[in-house]
Amino acid sequence: MNHFQPRRGQLHAERIPVATLAEAHGTPLYVYSTATLTRHWKVLKGSLRGLDATICYAVKANSNLAVLAHFARLGSGFDIVSGGELYRVLKAGGHPAKVVFSGVGKRDDELAFALDAGVGTINVESAGELVRLSAVARRLKVRAPVALRVNPDVDPRTHPYIATGLRESKFGIPVAEARRLYHQAVKDPHLDVRGVACHIGSQLTTLRPFVDAVGRVRALAADLAGAGIRLRHLDVGGGLGVTYRDEQPPSPDQYGAAIRKALAGWEGAVHLEPGRVLVGNAGVLLTRVIQVKRSGKKTFVVVDAAMNDLVRPAFYGAWHAIEPVVAPPAGARAVTCDVVGPVCESSDFLARGRKLVLPAEGDLLCIRTAGAYGFTMSSNYNSRPRAAEVLVDGDRALLARQRETYPDLIRGEALARPAPKPRPFRRRRG
Ligand code: LLP
Repeated sequence: MNHFQPRRGQLHAERIPVATLAEAHGTPLYVYSTATLTRHWKVLKGSLRGLDATICYAVKANSNLAVLAHFARLGSGFDIVSGGELYRVLKAGGHPAKVVFSGVGKRDDELAFALDAGVGTINVESAGELVRLSAVARRLKVRAPVALRVNPDVDPRTHPYIATGLRESKFGIPVAEARRLYHQAVKDPHLDVRGVACHIGSQLTTLRPFVDAVGRVRALAADLAGAGIRLRHLDVGGGLGVTYRDEQPPSPDQYGAAIRKALAGWEGAVHLEPGRVLVGNAGVLLTRVIQVKRSGKKTFVVVDAAMNDLVRPAFYGAWHAIEPVVAPPAGARAVTCDVVGPVCESSDFLARGRKLVLPAEGDLLCIRTAGAYGFTMSSNYNSRPRAAEVLVDGDRALLARQRETYPDLIRGEALARPAPKPRPFRRRRG
């Protein structure tokens, strides 16, 4: 369910025709729907009734300040993986006590920033990190709130690039080692051992791996309780998938019910780190057709969005629905084409072998389910200014991020000596 729907043949974002937004702000343009964000957050929260649950939205999925501020207003916590993400959360009015800091390589300065800001939990991912965190806490004269992120060795059956809970993955601590580290951590006066965490992967479309992972983490918690180490919270991570094409992921209600069941009898609090399921289909990417090009037997629709704007198709072979913003006339014939961007890479495609009613130059296309890992993974490759972002709420649209300009592209760069003055150009006479 999302609030990007056609009305009278024109795609709307809530009550605004998206073509109006493209006119006002140019393309490529990310458009997000507040009503969709609210709905997803509330449905997930509702599915966890009966649990003392904190939703810690995974900032990496979409870190726009206006999006973060909206979740903060709903009462959300945040899952961060860098000092930069913490900075954003604080600027957006997020409550530091509801922040969990995950990640396999946190630098000392990032740990210090987090402790200074008073984050709720630091999810430690290695023995070495535990030692460094203790040293940073001692220096700052605080006790660091700690959970260990364990690696439950569960196959999430997802794309290998986004599977994180298998034994050979760089993430998390094997259960046996974690047990030993808990015994070490509780004796450390600079550490405050609070909980246990796991995250097994992203875009999961079945419940089984979640249930297995929670089962293994619970077994560890029970084991520790037997040894007098009582954990106050269990963090089940994120990972619930969305529908891009024909996937049928569990609904938030089914997911919530499975988590509730897997946690039956658990008396502590629960943390969740959902990203994609909250923002995925709450965002679209609008792009304009620059050129339609035929090459041999192939038809290329060259658009003004590229892999630097949305890297998922190039990087993971991901499939995103693409549709015209203005519905084509009934009965118009679809052709098979590649939708590609202007970047100088053969992997710069948004869709391959896609059936589309062939658009004309200047037409607007909408790339769906681009709210998660869309803008946040964008870059300036080919010196392309990054897209603008708009957050729609009913019939209002906030320019949540300005389009980058050419001066933005070189901000912070330096020349060893002043750039030569351009010489007047003289045409040679024949
Ligand atoms: N917690 C941790 C520790 C994570 O590493 C992640 C995602 C999440 C939570 C949120 O997972 P989600 O609920 O969004 O699945 N760029 C990839 C996805 C990478 C996910 C990385 N970790 C993509 O575009 O599919």
